[in-house]
Amino acid sequence: MEFRNVTIVDGTGAAPFVGDVVVEGDRIVEVSVSTPPADGPGQATGLVLAPGFIDVHTHDDVQLLSTPDMDFKTLQGVTSVVVGNCGFSAAPSYADLPMGPSFATMTDYFAALDNEPAAVNATVLVGHGSVRSAVMGFKENREATSDEMAAMSARVIEALDAGAIGISSGLAYEPGRYSGPDEMKQLVGLVADAGGIYTTHMRNEANGLLDSIDESIAVAETTGAPLQISHLKASDRSVWGEVVPALEKIEAARARGVDVMFDQYPYTRGSTFFDQVANSGAFEGQSEFGSLSPEEVLIASAPGRPEWEGRTLAQVADDEGVDTRTMIDRIVTELDRRCVVILDRMCEEDVQTVMSHPEMIVGSDGVYGGSRPHPRLHHTYPRILGHYVRELGLLELPRAVQAMTSAAAKRFGFHDRGVIEAGAYADLVLFDPETIIDTGTYMDPKTVPTGIEGVWVNGTLVVENGAITGERPGLALRHR
Ligand code: ZN
Ligand code: CU
Repeated sequence: MEFRNVTIVDGTGAAPFVGDVVVEGDRIVEVSVSTPPADGPGQATGLVLAPGFIDVHTHDDVQLLSTPDMDFKTLQGVTSVVVGNCGFSAAPSYADLPMGPSFATMTDYFAALDNEPAAVNATVLVGHGSVRSAVMGFKENREATSDEMAAMSARVIEALDAGAIGISSGLAYEPGRYSGPDEMKQLVGLVADAGGIYTTHMRNEANGLLDSIDESIAVAETTGAPLQISHLKASDRSVWGEVVPALEKIEAARARGVDVMFDQYPYTRGSTFFDQVANSGAFEGQSEFGSLSPEEVLIASAPGRPEWEGRTLAQVADDEGVDTRTMIDRIVTELDRRCVVILDRMCEEDVQTVMSHPEMIVGSDGVYGGSRPHPRLHHTYPRILGHYVRELGLLELPRAVQAMTSAAAKRFGFHDRGVIEAGAYADLVLFDPETIIDTGTYMDPKTVPTGIEGVWVNGTLVVENGAITGERPGLALRHR
């Protein structure tokens, strides 16, 4: 297979050039610069060929198995995902979570991925919340005993031996919030010894943002593990602007040799599980999720209650003729952990501040399910390339592509991926830089982005002209 006279954005951040790329089997075998004539046959196509995008922050653990075409990913140019984020992974226990079946061990999960390949490649984190819940249950609001620590350590080691790249935490959530810094340090220490990474959904992204950055950096500094701060943001009106001192703390840590990076999705609204938000006290005052009004909460997914989806908490309370408190309790009682909401939390200026930083990498954080998932699930990458690069000029195209490809690949151990060069895997996306854009809204999120012409995973075409091909060439990537 050959691409002729395409504009190559090679993923390294280097300037684009017009050239040819030859693919044989699953690898790129040749990259050459061409000098196409100004007009006539052989002129530059105007299309950009880039490495396939690597989504470093996903909750696609079960989707890889239950929706293996992964159309919501490939249609936006994504060829690889990192699963197991925010403390939740499919092994060793997902049973307490609404995301689907769980696996007793990471070995079992990898075997399932091998048996039923998906359209995209996957790298796996083990979730601290899943480990804690397997050993101690979901609701134990106390420190782990030494026996429990030993049992959790064994689960983490099993996951690392099976091929997990590292551990994630979700310290704003049950059960992660019940663990203190020592528990994390001990488990992350095992990960550091194995050469793995620590990613964290920090304890408090609202009025505890800066303390949470300190807590996260301390874990990295004590253990020596690389630290990836997930979806960096200032998640409450009261802390808007604090991404600036947050980034300064990250830079100061980097300057003294701590390996800290962060990722981001390109929206001012977040999305998470309603019961976690309701139980945090966010409707009564400040909490891990800030302070919320019923108008700021939009229901994305409510299994069995489609009439609630796309309505705010204030609206459904009104629909049902009850006060907000009664409605909150009704949702939690009826749907337990299965209700996903969208929260209006951040300001655009902060989103742009984080996006402009040279160490930013991209992760969608989409949560699959319901009729109105957050549009980040389907549109993160075209939104950055269309809105923030082309329309706003906030960052240059080569830098944006680097944040989606080689920088992400280096961070999460995707060897020979994330770049266009001879010998690399042929994970590729062909797009029109003049038209690429997200098309999904909060009310109508499940649309196809514009401008993605073709997507290849390991040399196999998975998207052609805005439609999936049905091929599933993805690999479960093991580390170490
Ligand atoms: Zn998270
Ligand atoms: Cu997440």
